[in-house]
Amino acid sequence: MLKTKVAEALNSQINAELYSSSLYFSMESYFHSVSLSGFAAWMRVQVQEELLHAMKLYDFIVSRGGRAVLEAIAKPDADWDSPLAAFEHVLRHEEEITARINSLMEIAAAEQDHATKIFLQWFVSEQVEEEAAAGEVLSKLRLIGKDSSGLFLLDAELGKRIFTPPRQQAA
Ligand code: FEO
Repeated sequence: MLKTKVAEALNSQINAELYSSSLYFSMESYFHSVSLSGFAAWMRVQVQEELLHAMKLYDFIVSRGGRAVLEAIAKPDADWDSPLAAFEHVLRHEEEITARINSLMEIAAAEQDHATKIFLQWFVSEQVEEEAAAGEVLSKLRLIGKDSSGLFLLDAELGKRIFTPPRQQAA
């Protein structure tokens, strides 16, 4: 059975992951509005990844006899000054999520909840990938600068990203 403090922290993380999906859904819409369909497709995959993160937390809470409690999701931003500004936001946001996962891990450790600590290790590794993926796009955008042909090449590259269904992902 989950201790109250751990259950509350896990539930709060469900909300953070749902907010992440909403933020990236909003960015997808922004990229469509500036005719960058590859960036938009990259964001759609990100939306799906975040929903998967929320569901993993939900399923874990339920499997431990806890109650998943859903809260209101904050309204995400709708516009960015440039693709660069959007990806600066992505990286900043992922760094915040990493900090949240780290404090969740600290709560689980303080409560001596070893099962939750093991469960959260997946999220610790996932955050390394999340920050790396955002950082890579951000670096390319900085190199591209105002070169529109470079931007269109990157758009084509990002459009190839595909979502890996949950059953094919490592648990
Ligand atoms: Fe669920 Fe992008 O962290």
